[in-house]
Amino acid sequence: MMLTKIERRIGSLMELGILECPKCRGIFSVEGRSLKCQSGHTYDFSKKGTVNFVLGYGEENYSREMLEARRKLMRLGLFRGILDSIAAAVIESGIPDPVILDAGCGEGTGLEYLYGKLEENGVRARLVGIDISSGGIMIAGRTEKDILFFVADLGSLPFGDRSFDFVINMFTPASYREFRRVLKPHGKVLKVVPEREHLIELRNAFGLKEYSNEDIVAHMAENMSVVRREKTMSVFDAEGHGEELLLMTPMLWGKTEGKSALAPGSVTVSSSLFVLE
Ligand SMILES: C[S@@+](CC[C@H](N)C(=O)[O-])C[C@H]1O[C@@H](n2cnc3c(N)ncnc32)[C@H](O)[C@@H]1O
Ligand SMILES: [Zn+2]
Repeated sequence: MMLTKIERRIGSLMELGILECPKCRGIFSVEGRSLKCQSGHTYDFSKKGTVNFVLGYGEENYSREMLEARRKLMRLGLFRGILDSIAAAVIESGIPDPVILDAGCGEGTGLEYLYGKLEENGVRARLVGIDISSGGIMIAGRTEKDILFFVADLGSLPFGDRSFDFVINMFTPASYREFRRVLKPHGKVLKVVPEREHLIELRNAFGLKEYSNEDIVAHMAENMSVVRREKTMSVFDAEGHGEELLLMTPMLWGKTEGKSALAPGSVTVSSSLFVLE
Protein backbone atom coordinates (compact mmCIF):
# COMPACT_ATOMS: atom_id res chain seq x y z
CA MET A 1 0.00 0.00 0.00
CA MET A 2 1.25 3.52 -0.89
CA LEU A 3 1.67 5.68 2.20
CA THR A 4 0.42 9.27 2.06
CA LYS A 5 2.84 12.10 2.66
CA ILE A 6 1.42 12.62 6.17
CA GLU A 7 1.89 8.94 7.02
CA ARG A 8 5.47 9.00 5.75
CA ARG A 9 6.26 12.14 7.76
CA ILE A 10 4.65 10.72 10.91
CA GLY A 11 6.73 7.57 10.45
CA SER A 12 9.96 9.61 10.24
CA LEU A 13 8.95 11.71 13.23
CA MET A 14 8.21 8.72 15.42
CA GLU A 15 11.50 7.13 14.43
CA LEU A 16 13.37 10.30 15.38
CA GLY A 17 11.49 10.80 18.64
CA ILE A 18 12.67 14.39 19.23
CA LEU A 19 9.41 16.36 19.29
CA GLU A 20 8.35 18.10 22.47
CA CYS A 21 5.41 20.46 23.08
CA PRO A 22 6.70 24.08 22.81
CA LYS A 23 4.02 25.21 25.32
CA CYS A 24 4.53 22.78 28.19
CA ARG A 25 7.51 20.59 27.15
CA GLY A 26 5.24 17.54 27.32
CA ILE A 27 5.61 14.46 25.13
CA PHE A 28 3.40 14.14 22.04
CA SER A 29 1.43 11.19 20.81
CA VAL A 30 -0.12 10.92 17.36
CA GLU A 31 -3.92 10.88 17.21
CA GLY A 32 -5.12 10.51 13.64
CA ARG A 33 -3.74 13.51 11.79
CA SER A 34 -2.84 15.46 14.93
CA LEU A 35 -0.16 15.62 17.57
CA LYS A 36 -1.48 15.83 21.12
CA CYS A 37 0.68 16.43 24.20
CA GLN A 38 0.03 15.15 27.73
CA SER A 39 -1.59 18.49 28.68
CA GLY A 40 -3.88 18.39 25.66
CA HIS A 41 -2.16 20.92 23.37
CA THR A 42 -3.07 19.78 19.87
CA TYR A 43 -1.44 20.53 16.52
CA ASP A 44 -2.69 19.24 13.16
CA PHE A 45 -0.65 17.93 10.27
CA SER A 46 -1.15 19.76 6.95
CA LYS A 47 -1.63 17.71 3.78
CA LYS A 48 2.07 18.14 3.11
CA GLY A 49 2.92 16.59 6.45
CA THR A 50 4.10 19.86 8.05
CA VAL A 51 2.90 21.09 11.47
CA ASN A 52 2.33 24.68 12.62
CA PHE A 53 3.52 25.16 16.22
CA VAL A 54 2.93 28.91 16.35
CA LEU A 55 -0.70 28.84 15.31
CA GLY A 56 -1.81 32.19 14.02
CA TYR A 57 0.96 34.39 15.35
CA GLY A 58 3.72 33.41 12.94
CA GLU A 59 5.32 36.38 11.21
CA GLU A 60 4.04 36.77 7.69
CA ASN A 61 6.39 39.51 6.58
CA TYR A 62 7.87 37.25 3.89
CA SER A 63 5.52 37.42 0.91
CA ARG A 64 4.93 34.50 -1.38
CA GLU A 65 6.53 36.53 -4.17
CA MET A 66 9.69 37.04 -2.14
CA LEU A 67 9.90 33.38 -1.12
CA GLU A 68 9.40 32.15 -4.69
CA ALA A 69 12.03 34.58 -6.02
CA ARG A 70 14.52 33.42 -3.41
CA ARG A 71 13.70 29.79 -4.19
CA LYS A 72 14.28 30.32 -7.91
CA LEU A 73 17.68 31.96 -7.43
CA MET A 74 18.77 29.42 -4.82
CA ARG A 75 17.83 26.62 -7.21
CA LEU A 76 20.05 28.30 -9.81
CA GLY A 77 22.92 28.02 -7.34
CA LEU A 78 22.99 31.47 -5.66
CA PHE A 79 24.21 30.08 -2.32
CA ARG A 80 25.80 26.83 -3.54
CA GLY A 81 29.27 27.69 -2.20
CA ILE A 82 27.86 28.35 1.28
CA LEU A 83 25.78 25.15 1.28
CA ASP A 84 28.80 23.15 0.11
CA SER A 85 30.83 24.42 3.06
CA ILE A 86 28.00 23.46 5.45
CA ALA A 87 27.90 19.98 3.89
CA ALA A 88 31.70 19.70 4.20
CA ALA A 89 31.54 20.57 7.92
CA VAL A 90 28.97 17.81 8.48
CA ILE A 91 30.86 15.25 6.39
CA GLU A 92 34.22 16.05 8.04
CA SER A 93 32.70 15.57 11.51
CA GLY A 94 32.38 11.86 10.71
CA ILE A 95 29.26 11.66 12.90
CA PRO A 96 27.22 8.68 11.67
CA ASP A 97 23.57 9.43 10.73
CA PRO A 98 23.70 13.02 11.99
CA VAL A 99 20.47 14.72 13.06
CA ILE A 100 20.43 18.28 11.74
CA LEU A 101 18.13 21.24 12.39
CA ASP A 102 17.97 24.26 10.08
CA ALA A 103 16.66 27.02 12.37
CA GLY A 104 15.17 29.59 9.97
CA CYS A 105 15.11 27.41 6.87
CA GLY A 106 12.94 29.76 4.78
CA GLU A 107 11.41 27.94 1.83
CA GLY A 108 13.61 24.89 2.35
CA THR A 109 15.82 24.86 -0.75
CA GLY A 110 18.99 24.96 1.35
CA LEU A 111 18.03 21.80 3.25
CA GLU A 112 16.93 20.01 0.08
CA TYR A 113 20.29 20.76 -1.52
CA LEU A 114 22.09 19.59 1.61
CA TYR A 115 20.10 16.35 1.61
CA GLY A 116 21.34 15.55 -1.92
CA LYS A 117 24.91 16.58 -1.18
CA LEU A 118 25.14 14.45 1.98
CA GLU A 119 23.51 11.49 0.26
CA GLU A 120 26.06 11.74 -2.58
CA ASN A 121 28.77 11.47 0.06
CA GLY A 122 27.25 8.45 1.75
CA VAL A 123 25.97 10.36 4.79
CA ARG A 124 22.45 9.41 5.82
CA ALA A 125 21.43 12.54 7.67
CA ARG A 126 18.06 13.22 9.29
CA LEU A 127 17.08 16.75 8.33
CA VAL A 128 14.57 19.00 10.08
CA GLY A 129 13.70 22.56 9.07
CA ILE A 130 11.76 25.16 11.06
CA ASP A 131 10.75 28.69 10.18
CA ILE A 132 8.32 31.20 11.65
CA SER A 133 6.98 31.94 8.16
CA SER A 134 4.08 29.60 7.44
CA GLY A 135 4.29 30.62 3.74
CA GLY A 136 7.90 29.46 3.66
CA ILE A 137 7.10 26.12 5.32
CA MET A 138 4.14 25.58 2.99
CA ILE A 139 6.52 25.83 0.02
CA ALA A 140 9.23 23.76 1.75
CA GLY A 141 6.67 20.99 2.40
CA ARG A 142 6.41 20.37 -1.37
CA THR A 143 9.54 18.24 -1.22
CA GLU A 144 9.29 14.49 -1.75
CA LYS A 145 12.56 14.02 0.14
CA ASP A 146 12.53 12.67 3.67
CA ILE A 147 12.87 16.08 5.35
CA LEU A 148 10.60 17.31 8.15
CA PHE A 149 9.38 20.92 8.10
CA PHE A 150 7.58 22.82 10.88
CA VAL A 151 6.34 26.34 11.48
CA ALA A 152 8.05 27.19 14.77
CA ASP A 153 9.80 30.00 16.63
CA LEU A 154 13.52 29.43 16.98
CA GLY A 155 13.27 31.03 20.44
CA SER A 156 10.99 28.19 21.63
CA LEU A 157 11.74 25.09 19.61
CA PRO A 158 9.36 22.11 19.61
CA PHE A 159 12.19 19.66 20.33
CA GLY A 160 13.57 17.99 23.40
CA ASP A 161 16.98 18.66 24.99
CA ARG A 162 20.03 17.12 23.25
CA SER A 163 18.19 16.27 20.00
CA PHE A 164 20.61 17.47 17.31
CA ASP A 165 24.20 17.01 16.18
CA PHE A 166 24.09 20.30 14.24
CA VAL A 167 21.96 23.44 14.22
CA ILE A 168 22.28 25.39 10.96
CA ASN A 169 21.42 29.10 11.22
CA MET A 170 21.85 30.85 7.87
CA PHE A 171 21.14 34.55 7.33
CA THR A 172 18.69 34.31 10.23
CA PRO A 173 18.55 35.60 13.83
CA ALA A 174 19.84 33.20 16.51
CA SER A 175 18.72 32.09 19.95
CA TYR A 176 21.89 30.60 21.38
CA ARG A 177 20.25 29.55 24.65
CA GLU A 178 17.72 27.51 22.71
CA PHE A 179 20.33 26.15 20.28
CA ARG A 180 22.48 24.96 23.20
CA ARG A 181 19.47 23.28 24.79
CA VAL A 182 18.59 21.21 21.70
CA LEU A 183 22.20 20.35 20.78
CA LYS A 184 23.77 17.09 21.90
CA PRO A 185 26.86 17.55 24.12
CA HIS A 186 29.26 17.35 21.14
CA GLY A 187 26.84 19.34 18.91
CA LYS A 188 27.80 22.38 16.85
CA VAL A 189 26.02 25.45 15.52
CA LEU A 190 26.80 26.20 11.87
CA LYS A 191 26.03 29.89 11.52
CA VAL A 192 26.23 31.77 8.21
CA VAL A 193 26.70 35.54 8.44
CA PRO A 194 26.92 37.94 5.49
CA GLU A 195 30.21 39.75 4.91
CA ARG A 196 30.60 43.39 3.85
CA GLU A 197 30.71 42.58 0.12
CA HIS A 198 27.57 40.39 0.20
CA LEU A 199 25.19 41.56 -2.57
CA ILE A 200 27.15 44.82 -2.64
CA GLU A 201 26.03 45.51 -6.24
CA LEU A 202 22.44 45.66 -4.98
CA ARG A 203 23.39 47.95 -2.09
CA ASN A 204 25.24 50.27 -4.44
CA ALA A 205 22.46 50.34 -7.06
CA PHE A 206 19.94 51.40 -4.40
CA GLY A 207 22.25 53.67 -2.41
CA LEU A 208 22.17 51.59 0.80
CA LYS A 209 24.89 52.10 3.38
CA GLU A 210 27.77 49.67 3.80
CA TYR A 211 26.95 46.49 5.74
CA SER A 212 28.81 45.42 8.86
CA ASN A 213 28.39 42.10 10.68
CA GLU A 214 30.29 43.36 13.74
CA ASP A 215 27.31 43.26 16.14
CA ILE A 216 26.21 39.77 15.05
CA VAL A 217 29.75 38.41 15.43
CA ALA A 218 30.21 40.06 18.84
CA HIS A 219 26.87 38.63 20.08
CA MET A 220 27.90 35.19 18.81
CA ALA A 221 31.27 35.31 20.58
CA GLU A 222 29.55 36.31 23.85
CA ASN A 223 27.34 33.24 23.70
CA MET A 224 29.41 30.45 22.15
CA SER A 225 33.02 29.61 21.32
CA VAL A 226 34.12 29.92 17.73
CA VAL A 227 35.79 26.67 16.64
CA ARG A 228 36.36 27.78 13.05
CA ARG A 229 35.52 30.63 10.69
CA GLU A 230 35.48 30.03 6.95
CA LYS A 231 34.83 32.77 4.42
CA THR A 232 33.34 31.99 1.00
CA MET A 233 33.00 34.41 -1.86
CA SER A 234 31.63 33.92 -5.37
CA VAL A 235 30.02 35.88 -8.17
CA PHE A 236 26.55 34.88 -9.31
CA ASP A 237 25.53 35.59 -12.90
CA ALA A 238 22.06 37.11 -12.54
CA GLU A 239 21.51 37.98 -16.22
CA GLY A 240 17.81 37.53 -16.99
CA HIS A 241 16.92 37.26 -13.28
CA GLY A 242 16.85 40.93 -12.30
CA GLU A 243 13.24 40.82 -11.07
CA GLU A 244 13.94 37.92 -8.70
CA LEU A 245 17.12 39.55 -7.45
CA LEU A 246 15.27 42.71 -6.41
CA LEU A 247 12.51 40.71 -4.75
CA MET A 248 14.54 38.14 -2.84
CA THR A 249 16.24 40.22 -0.16
CA PRO A 250 14.59 41.98 2.81
CA MET A 251 17.07 44.87 2.54
CA LEU A 252 15.30 46.16 -0.59
CA TRP A 253 11.73 45.89 0.68
CA GLY A 254 9.60 48.78 -0.54
CA LYS A 255 12.45 50.25 -2.57
CA THR A 256 12.27 48.47 -5.92
CA GLU A 257 8.84 49.31 -7.36
CA GLY A 258 9.28 50.26 -11.04
CA LYS A 259 13.06 50.13 -10.73
CA SER A 260 13.89 46.79 -12.32
CA ALA A 261 16.34 48.56 -14.68
CA LEU A 262 18.62 49.05 -11.67
CA ALA A 263 19.13 45.29 -11.23
CA PRO A 264 22.83 44.40 -11.64
CA GLY A 265 23.87 41.71 -14.15
CA SER A 266 25.79 39.83 -11.47
CA VAL A 267 26.10 39.88 -7.68
CA THR A 268 28.81 39.03 -5.20
CA VAL A 269 27.86 36.40 -2.63
CA SER A 270 30.13 36.71 0.37
CA SER A 271 29.66 35.22 3.81
CA SER A 272 31.38 33.47 6.67
CA LEU A 273 30.47 30.09 8.07
CA PHE A 274 31.09 29.99 11.82
CA VAL A 275 31.38 26.63 13.52
CA LEU A 276 30.33 27.21 17.14
CA GLU A 277 30.23 25.07 20.29
C1 LIG B 1 16.83 35.97 5.12
S1 LIG B 1 15.79 34.59 5.49
C2 LIG B 1 16.91 33.23 5.34
C3 LIG B 1 16.22 31.95 5.03
C4 LIG B 1 17.15 30.77 4.66
N1 LIG B 1 18.02 30.41 5.77
C5 LIG B 1 17.96 31.16 3.45
O1 LIG B 1 19.16 31.42 3.60
O2 LIG B 1 17.40 31.21 2.35
C6 LIG B 1 15.54 34.71 7.25
C7 LIG B 1 14.53 33.69 7.78
O3 LIG B 1 14.48 33.76 9.20
C8 LIG B 1 13.14 33.48 9.58
N2 LIG B 1 12.95 33.90 10.97
C9 LIG B 1 13.05 35.15 11.49
N3 LIG B 1 12.77 35.13 12.82
C10 LIG B 1 12.50 33.83 13.15
C11 LIG B 1 12.11 33.18 14.37
N4 LIG B 1 11.99 33.83 15.52
N5 LIG B 1 11.91 31.84 14.33
C12 LIG B 1 12.05 31.15 13.17
N6 LIG B 1 12.39 31.72 11.99
C13 LIG B 1 12.61 33.05 11.98
C14 LIG B 1 12.34 34.24 8.56
O4 LIG B 1 10.98 33.84 8.49
C15 LIG B 1 13.12 33.94 7.28
O5 LIG B 1 12.66 32.79 6.61
ZN1 LIG C 1 1.69 20.91 25.73
